[in-house]
Amino acid sequence: MAIRNIREMGDPVLNKVCKEVKEITDRTRELIDDMFDTMYEANGVGLAAPQVGILKRIVVIDVTGEEPHLLINPVILETSGEQTGNEGCLSVPGKTGIVTRPNYVKVKAYDENLQPFELEGTELLARAICHELEHLDGHLYVEKVEGDLLNVSDVYEDED
Ligand code: NI
Repeated sequence: MAIRNIREMGDPVLNKVCKEVKEITDRTRELIDDMFDTMYEANGVGLAAPQVGILKRIVVIDVTGEEPHLLINPVILETSGEQTGNEGCLSVPGKTGIVTRPNYVKVKAYDENLQPFELEGTELLARAICHELEHLDGHLYVEKVEGDLLNVSDVYEDED
């Protein structure tokens, strides 16, 4: 278990297309454990492997703090509806912006034993799935922001 360094926007590793995971090694398992630790430590709801500098199609998500999801080689099967709201990213610290996403997503992925499963999500989980999967293809949410990228401290100033 270890906290890994989170790469920030401008680091070229965040703009690369990640490779499929073909086997689970001890190093893969260590990476997955570290990704969960790093996400929780940073109070994030999701983290993709390229954000810690590893170009593999692995994503961890937990939107409630009690529902950890591991998605290996994830593929979106279905989306529906629409939600528009603030989004942020651990690789773009201190910033937030409005992004429109599907309100429902169904994804196929593989677990830590490379067994396939499907996961459905709505609202924040659907948003997180879309956001994290885009990291695997080298994209950041800032490309989709409607209007300006804002400072978190300006948007949420009343809550602090
Ligand atoms: Ni992100």
